[in-house]
Amino acid sequence: MPLTKKTFGLICSLVIFPGIAPVLSADQALFSSDVHPSTAFDDTHHRFKHPIRRAAVIGAGPSGLQHATALLEQGVQVRLFDRSPNPGGNWQYTPLSPIPAAFPDKPLEIAAYVPNIPHKLPQAHIIKDGDGGISNAYRWREHWNPSPVWESLHTNSPSFLTDLPGMSYPAGSEWHVSHHAVRRLVRQYASAHGLNANDEESSNVTSYSTRVERIEKIGHTWSLTLRKFERLPGHGMSGFGDILVSWWVEVFDAVVVTTTGTTPLIPSDVRGKNVLIIGGSVSAVEIARDIQAHVRSFSISTRSHKKDPEEILRPPPFLRLPPNITRIPEIKSFSTFNSLRHTKLSDATATLLNGTVVGGFDQARAIILATGYRRSNPFLSGFHNSTVEEDRVPDCEVPPIITNGSGVRSIHWTGVYIPDPTLAFSTVRPWTLGKFQALGVAKIWSGKARLPNVERLWKEYYVPGLPSVTSELEGDRRFVAWLNGESLEFGGRFVKNTIAPELFEPIAWWGKVAFDVRVFPAVPLVDEENKPRKDWEHYAQAAYYDDDW
Ligand SMILES: Cc1cc2nc3c(=O)[nH]c(=O)nc-3n(C[C@H](O)[C@H](O)[C@H](O)COP(=O)(O)OP(=O)(O)OC[C@H]3O[C@@H](n4cnc5c(N)ncnc54)[C@H](O)[C@@H]3O)c2cc1C
Ligand SMILES: *[C@@H]1O[C@H](CO)[C@@H](O)[C@H](O)[C@H]1NC(C)=O
Ligand SMILES: *[C@@H]1O[C@H](CO)[C@@H](O)[C@H](O)[C@H]1NC(C)=O
Ligand SMILES: *[C@@H]1O[C@H](CO)[C@@H](O)[C@H](O)[C@H]1NC(C)=O
Ligand SMILES: *[C@@H]1O[C@H](CO)[C@@H](O)[C@H](O)[C@H]1NC(C)=O
Ligand SMILES: *[C@@H]1O[C@H](CO)[C@@H](O)[C@H](O)[C@H]1NC(C)=O
Repeated sequence: MPLTKKTFGLICSLVIFPGIAPVLSADQALFSSDVHPSTAFDDTHHRFKHPIRRAAVIGAGPSGLQHATALLEQGVQVRLFDRSPNPGGNWQYTPLSPIPAAFPDKPLEIAAYVPNIPHKLPQAHIIKDGDGGISNAYRWREHWNPSPVWESLHTNSPSFLTDLPGMSYPAGSEWHVSHHAVRRLVRQYASAHGLNANDEESSNVTSYSTRVERIEKIGHTWSLTLRKFERLPGHGMSGFGDILVSWWVEVFDAVVVTTTGTTPLIPSDVRGKNVLIIGGSVSAVEIARDIQAHVRSFSISTRSHKKDPEEILRPPPFLRLPPNITRIPEIKSFSTFNSLRHTKLSDATATLLNGTVVGGFDQARAIILATGYRRSNPFLSGFHNSTVEEDRVPDCEVPPIITNGSGVRSIHWTGVYIPDPTLAFSTVRPWTLGKFQALGVAKIWSGKARLPNVERLWKEYYVPGLPSVTSELEGDRRFVAWLNGESLEFGGRFVKNTIAPELFEPIAWWGKVAFDVRVFPAVPLVDEENKPRKDWEHYAQAAYYDDDW
């Protein structure tokens, strides 16, 4: 356990229901200090016990790059770690595929990878290609976990809601941009802020090919155990040279985690096959669109979605399904998945919800599981609690961050971990609210924005729900009001809404063009402007970002 009972005992005796005030105000004794002498910080605000001078950012995707930039701008010393050799995160396309996902799934604590930490730290040694019967090409992919993005992928979000501060797509770009264009935009942002892999000036800031193996709170600082791979020249049996692996520990006042999902699944070669896609969300639909011209036949098994006219602003992805795909009911059980005896696909049978048994999966058939990602951050081993099912945070020693793998828990909409705001997460789309979340956390940590005290943080806590454009609009308003209010108090530039009113019409058009739903022309997005906070969707108040979005 990285956090001691002493630190959290008080807080954990709270039983927290969304929207209901906790019984106890525990934060004064725990967090009072003279770090922020300003009278603007009163008892209703969180007070950090120690100044935050040095922070770690885990992940150099669009979120992590913005966090690192905002922290550097606020004068915080930053270290940025990514297990991949370059910035870009999800958008760093490579023909390399991730190592095959374990089947059946491993527990979330080790689903993304098994942390590898030697007893003696620091340590470094050379791994020869083929050592221990494992090729270095494999080790490299395991360490990095290449992005699940595939060659033909285009965004399902319009380009004007998929960009970064100060960066725009080349004039004349389509709304529906290829992943190559997104990657270029993200790397342009990294370069503009001196965070690219080959930026010499950033050699003290960035550390690529560096996987975070463990984070632990020891005393009042966070210890990060890191593992770095460096490719040495030469060619071993897998066409790969030696790898220099090194482990070491670095200590920080605060840490922000911007990693997302895990255990991606790459479509296998489906040319000329009869393909069954399982799942009806974004990836399933985009894969169906991409493979439609190349397969012999294709069907998709989805859960039944209720058609909710209120859902106009988050159109169900299946509206983008090719019309000639065969829809079959949800799969109730799959023999291969349930029994160790059936290990070959050709032996497998699938029982549909309507009772029909489907079999005959052979060479000519392929199954694509587009059933989503689970949140797994093995470095957070002290913050898991897989027994939590309900929507509230349990009455326990360390309020969990990872529970059933859907998003992160105990996180406030600003991104901070409520029991200890020196730990933060990116939990919203980096292209929209993420811009504010990065700025907000940087301001909070540098004393230029106030955070509610722990009691108010729990009161504002809301459990994961899916983001919709409406909830993003509401979140947008909330962030702008808060950030600009703090800038009035402490100085700093003002921010404008990321989903500005002039985008409402393009958003409605995007819905029409991309999803072709009749309800779209009726979208009264401007009505959102007149909605007071009490009418906001509950999940707008949550800091939550579904990795499968
Ligand atoms: C197939 C696919 C299609 C998508 N399409 C869209 C779309 O069209 N529009 C859209 O808005 N979103 C889309 N997304 C969501 C996508 O996740 C976001 O667009 C965006 O990339 C999230 O940015 P991020 O910085 O939060 O996380 P990521 O881009 O995922 O970056 C996280 C980084 O953390 C690093 N990391 C993870 N674990 C560790 C560790 N232990 N140590 C060090 N580093 C670590 C990873 O290497 C990665 O670079 C898609 C996602 C997928 C998988
Ligand atoms: C990196 O840090 C070291 C030690 O503090 C310093 O000597 C060096 O100049 C720094 N390098 C850059 C590029 O800032
Ligand atoms: C589905 O329709 C598309 C568009 O007309 C066509 O290109 C494709 O070959 C069809 N696919 C199958 C499997 O029938
Ligand atoms: C169940 O669904 C399958 C696939 O759509 C269909 O072929 C079959 O006829 C259905 N069975 C019943 C009993 O409705
Ligand atoms: C995990 O959550 C359960 C409630 O679901 C709680 O009873 C238990 O104490 C928690 N475990 C830990 C280690 O905190
Ligand atoms: C996880 O829990 C949340 C909140 O209770 C729930 O909405 C979600 O469906 C659960 N997900 C899984 C995969 O069980």
